[in-house]
Amino acid sequence: MIIAIDGPAGVGKSSVAKNVAKELGIYYLNSGNFYRAVTLRVLRNGVDPADNAKCEEQAALADFDVVNGRFCLDGEDVEDKLHTPEIDLNASRISVNPNVRAIVNKRIHELTEKLSIIAEGRDMTTVVFPDAEFKFFFDAKPEVRAKRRFDQNPEAMPYEQVLAEIIERDHIDRNKPVGGLKISADSAYIDTSYLTLNEVCEKVLKAVRSSSKV
Ligand code: DC
Repeated sequence: MIIAIDGPAGVGKSSVAKNVAKELGIYYLNSGNFYRAVTLRVLRNGVDPADNAKCEEQAALADFDVVNGRFCLDGEDVEDKLHTPEIDLNASRISVNPNVRAIVNKRIHELTEKLSIIAEGRDMTTVVFPDAEFKFFFDAKPEVRAKRRFDQNPEAMPYEQVLAEIIERDHIDRNKPVGGLKISADSAYIDTSYLTLNEVCEKVLKAVRSSSKV
């Protein structure tokens, strides 16, 4: 069984997918972590994030794995190193490159082959798992998403800057030539703006449990 969720940054995809995976006893795949890990490798090796060919090279050399639910890059647990403002911004740009996307998608397929999974990102329902049994698009107003991000770490930057970055990343995500953020015709649309985490999880679980597809 494959459950695929797409949506912009800050809609709660990761928290919902993690909880639903636990509840159903299936594998949780966070596709954004792969782009974040490529970015970490690029920055660590002093590569210019605007140099497409060098970024592709870094993606091709990277060894991505998930061990006990923790993201590993080249054998190192980097789960706690993937969420910095520098990686947020550069991952958005590096993930535009179709060749980087092809490398990431190949590894995602290898890691999840034959597993029951819940995968979340920007192109899970459209490109990576177009045949997923369950597809969702999560959405929320930019101001609500920025407030959630700001509340997670109020010291990091002012709310206005968080909002401006969310708007910039939305623009980049929606205009990628390959794997751009789109609502597929067969996805269930959920606006999470005024729903709690539990309420969103319940919606996903209800759709899965009430279906004859499982
Ligand atoms: O979901 P996230 O914010 O952790 O994703 C990190 C970056 O990777 C973000 O800029 C969007 C990009 N991304 C993507 O292009 N395709 C995906 N399937 C997942 C994430």
